[in-house]
Parts: sequence; structure tokens; C-alpha cells
Amino acid sequence: MALTRGLASSVLQDGFAEVKAGPLTAATLRHRHIESRSVGIHFVQGSGFIGAEPSNRECYSPMQSFNAECRMSDRLQNKVVVVTGGASGIGEGMVRRFCAEAAQVILADVDEANGSRIAAECGADFALLDVSSADSWQLLEKKIRDDGGRLDILVNNAGVVTGQDITAVTVDAWQQLMSINLLGMMLGCQMAISLMRDNPGGSGGSIINTASSTSYLAIPDVAYTTSKAGVVGLTKSVAVHCANEGFNIRCNSIHPGATLTNILKTAIEQAPEVEEACNKMSPLNRMGTVEEVAAMAVFLASDEASFCTGGQYAVEGGTVSQHPKM
Ligand SMILES: NC(=O)c1ccc[n+]([C@@H]2O[C@H](COP(=O)([O-])OP(=O)(O)OC[C@H]3O[C@@H](n4cnc5c(N)ncnc54)[C@H](O)[C@@H]3O)[C@@H](O)[C@H]2O)c1
Repeated sequence: MALTRGLASSVLQDGFAEVKAGPLTAATLRHRHIESRSVGIHFVQGSGFIGAEPSNRECYSPMQSFNAECRMSDRLQNKVVVVTGGASGIGEGMVRRFCAEAAQVILADVDEANGSRIAAECGADFALLDVSSADSWQLLEKKIRDDGGRLDILVNNAGVVTGQDITAVTVDAWQQLMSINLLGMMLGCQMAISLMRDNPGGSGGSIINTASSTSYLAIPDVAYTTSKAGVVGLTKSVAVHCANEGFNIRCNSIHPGATLTNILKTAIEQAPEVEEACNKMSPLNRMGTVEEVAAMAVFLASDEASFCTGGQYAVEGGTVSQHPKM
């Protein structure tokens, strides 16, 4: 399949991220980083704040099944969940699904405008969090401890791209991406273990790290590829440590393929050939949806996944099973 250079080819190479590479140049990454350095953390309470009965939640309108009954199985009822990067795309889908499962959800993001709006729509809390800042994580931990100290599930989902290959990547861009995609994830694991170890009623919890099919299949964005491969090692190390310490804390990674987020929808509007390119990544000949990724997160978060730790869970329609030339 012949794709032109630029946006379309970028999307084909990455599936997620290069779509974002337009606005996310080294300069914008630096800007975002500087901006995010100054953020602290605060909560904007939705209708289902921590400790409240999780009732009257809005449904996630894009999902037919959610519209039908509002609640799914309630299998996460009263579980306290933090989703980073919940203000957009896959994270937003997870927030909405966890709310529909009657969990008490904290949407944590640097994007206050969208994060607060989404949280209010589905009955979550919003927390302004820069995952790359240890101070920001400490403030979140303090807030959770002040609210009763319970944390059952952390989804380390926030992620960015550079759009730069090995010949172009700058030290600045590399470090800024790593500070979000890997350091941020490590800091999240530290906070989660600290809280989950002390959970009222005994230690326990589930940490879910959003990786990618690029953990296995390289793309030109060298920092992004490296970070997503790194998530696998981080996840296994955390899982083994927690098991060895007897903490009853599981840690797994989710590996989405090309997923139809708003960014991708915009890219398709601008360059319609992107859609076919992304579809062809999977032998199922389509992209994934945020709801399909969220469904995997709910499973890994639930007690049904009690024997799952240190694992890598693909939600990519067979993308890495298919020989690219066939
Ligand atoms: N969409 C795809 O095709 C795809 C495929 C594979 C993996 N992924 C992974 O899924 C995750 C989400 O991707 P998406 O497509 O939903 O992207 P997205 O850009 O729609 O959402 C990313 C979110 O992370 C937030 N964020 C960025 N920097 C942050 C920081 N420092 N602190 C807190 N929040 C921050 C953003 O504000 C945004 O809300 C990423 O880790 C990405 O690598 C996506």
C-alpha cells in the first residue's frame, strides 16, 4: 500500500501517536513540560465523589450497551480507581467505563478543561496531575489518604509522542517523552504500591500500564518505541516485587493497536487514506475502539483477573500476529 509521506505515513507507522506529532514537536513538548511543571493537584468533584454512593451516573453515550442500562456488572462497585490521561481518547473511555461499573473514579490529567468536563459528565472526580512530577504524585497520594486512604486500581495511561526518528530526536524531546511515558509510570507504580499496601482491610490492588503494539513492533519514533518496550520491563518488575513481598498487588500491561481516538478521527478527516492504512494493520481489517481497550482494563482491574500479574494483554486485533507482507 503506497502512502504518501507526512501525516498518513506517520499514522501507518504508529497507529496512535504520529497523528499527534503535528502539534507535538519538541517545542510543544517543551512548552507542555514547562506548563506542567507548574501544576499542583486539586480535585474537582463530580456527582460521585470519593465516599459518595455512586448513583445517578451518566452513561457513556457512544456505547449502546451503556445507554441501555447505565450500569454494567457493578463488579467494580466502590473500588477507588485512578486513571491518568483520562481527559482524552483511551483514558476517557476507561474513565467512562469504570464509572459505568460503579467504581469511584479519579480522572487525573494535565488537561483541566476536558478532564473536569468529562469527570462531571460521568460522576468522576478530576485531579490535576502531571505524571512526570514526583511532587504532583505526592499531592495526589496525600489527597487520597485524606479521603480515606483507599486505592484499588491505578491505570497508568498518560502518554505522548515525539514524532522524531533516531537521526532527528533531540535530547530534550527524548527526556521529556521519557519523563511522561516511563518516569511518570514508575512514579505512579510507587504511589499505588504505597497506598495499596496500606489499604483498609488488607493490602491489595491492580496496576494497569498502557503500553502499545509498538512494545513489539518498532516505529520510527525512537523515544516512543523505547518507552513502550520499557513499559513491559517495568510492569514485570513491579509485578514480581509485589508478589515476592506478599502485597497482593497485581501489575499488568495493556497493548492497544491502532485505536480510533479523536486524534485519529481528525487525521482521517484530513487524509482519508489514513483510515484504510490503520484498518490494514489488523487482520480483522479495522481499528480498535476505546471501549474495547477499556473492557480489557476492567477485566484486569476486577477480581476475575486474580491470577493475572506481570502479563501483557494485547487489544490490537491480531496486529502483531500478522506478517506485514502477507
Ligand atoms: N490511540 C492509539 O492508537 C494508541 C495505540 C497504542 C497505545 N496507545 C497509548 O494509549 C495511551 C493513551 O493514548 P490516546 O490515544 O488516548 O492519547 P490522547 O492524546 O488522546 O490522550 C493522552 C492523555 O494524556 C494526557 N497527558 C499528557 N501528558 C500528561 C502528563 N504529563 N500528565 C498527565 N496527563 C498527561 C493528555 O492530556 C491526554 O488527555 C498512551 O499511553 C498511548 O501511548 C494509544
